[in-house]
Amino acid sequence: MRVAIFGQGYVASILAVGLQRIKNGEIGYEGIPLADCIPRKIEDIELTTAFDIDVSKVGRRLSEVVQAYWHDGIKFENDYEVKLGYEDMRGRGVDVDFEEVVGQLIDEYRRADVEIFVNLITTEKAEPFEDVQELKRAIRENDVDRVSPAQLYFYSVAEYERPSAFINCIPSPIANDPACVELASRSKTVIFGDDGASGATPLTADLLAHLQQRGRKVLCISQFNIGGNTDFLSLMEPERNASKETTKSSIVSDILGYDVPHFIKPTGYLEPLGDKKFVAMHIPYISFNGAEDELIINARINDSPALAGLIVDLIRLAALAIERNEFGTVYPINAFYMKMPGPKEARAIPKMFAFELVKSWVYETPSIKAT
Ligand SMILES: NC(=O)c1ccc[n+]([C@@H]2O[C@H](COP(=O)([O-])OP(=O)(O)OC[C@H]3O[C@@H](n4cnc5c(N)ncnc54)[C@H](O)[C@@H]3O)[C@@H](O)[C@H]2O)c1
Repeated sequence: MRVAIFGQGYVASILAVGLQRIKNGEIGYEGIPLADCIPRKIEDIELTTAFDIDVSKVGRRLSEVVQAYWHDGIKFENDYEVKLGYEDMRGRGVDVDFEEVVGQLIDEYRRADVEIFVNLITTEKAEPFEDVQELKRAIRENDVDRVSPAQLYFYSVAEYERPSAFINCIPSPIANDPACVELASRSKTVIFGDDGASGATPLTADLLAHLQQRGRKVLCISQFNIGGNTDFLSLMEPERNASKETTKSSIVSDILGYDVPHFIKPTGYLEPLGDKKFVAMHIPYISFNGAEDELIINARINDSPALAGLIVDLIRLAALAIERNEFGTVYPINAFYMKMPGPKEARAIPKMFAFELVKSWVYETPSIKAT
């Protein structure tokens, strides 16, 4: 399984370190949900290239970039050089020739002989195209203010002549954009997305299901996340945080069947916390005879390894989906691994149910509807 990464940041670097340490026999499969269930070996995943826009990373070897995130030193079997990606040009008043950018990206994909792409760039604001003609128009007319980097990367993968997969771990609507899903079906591309479901949100989803099954009425939900990595730093920009808020909040009405006042979004940046974020949750609810109970949870969670472990599964599931010709998007996989599972009309369901869906898909009994 030959993989390319968009965004060689914390998650991508911990993914590379963890995979290499597994290959070296230094660590086990902890944190990989379907470690032994997927008929593809973790050891056969090969990270072949990455694209970034940070000048301190572009042109550097993986091992040099990783030093910022992992201090124990590690030798990679493929110590690739980070390539220059596509920078966000919206609102900058510059001319871009999309055909040329896409052509250059595809040349790199061919050189690295890639079939699976993982999107881990900084959270961005992006609007869905809805209609595939509108997406094609924006690309054809070089409408630089309309197309986000994640959308451009997806388009380049769809244009790549080889059947391939685009795993969208960030909130930009790709699996939730009917335009992208249609283009993917036509161009033999698999999409998984959107926004990797690591950290506090899956826990909240399962707790809400627990309360809903017992007929308890949730009154409100507070969920705080404070972290010290660059992902949290970037989310302090209101526009970027807004896109994260949309993905996280949809779980409430999807799971409870009604909406309640809630605050579920990254709350703050505190540098000394580093990657190990602080999560606090408070959920008051009404029980039998009007009794008022409340759940109060405090946790410290290492952010990047939580998502990197899921990506180890997603890469192997992508290889299976390509082999099975399941192009477009695959709901049973998105339902478990993503905060906002595509396609657009699909609901977020508790992760403990979605886990059974994804296992059935792996064992090839997929009769699951998206709604
Ligand atoms: N557990 C988690 O950490 C978690 C969970 C869910 C989703 N995510 C998402 O994963 C993404 C990556 O998280 P991270 O902690 O690695 O962040 P990070 O800030 O460490 O890494 C992001 C990288 O993307 C690069 N980048 C920015 N714009 C780019 C572009 N146009 N092209 C190529 N590269 C670009 C940055 O230079 C940086 O190297 C974030 O968008 C985040 O929302 C993370």
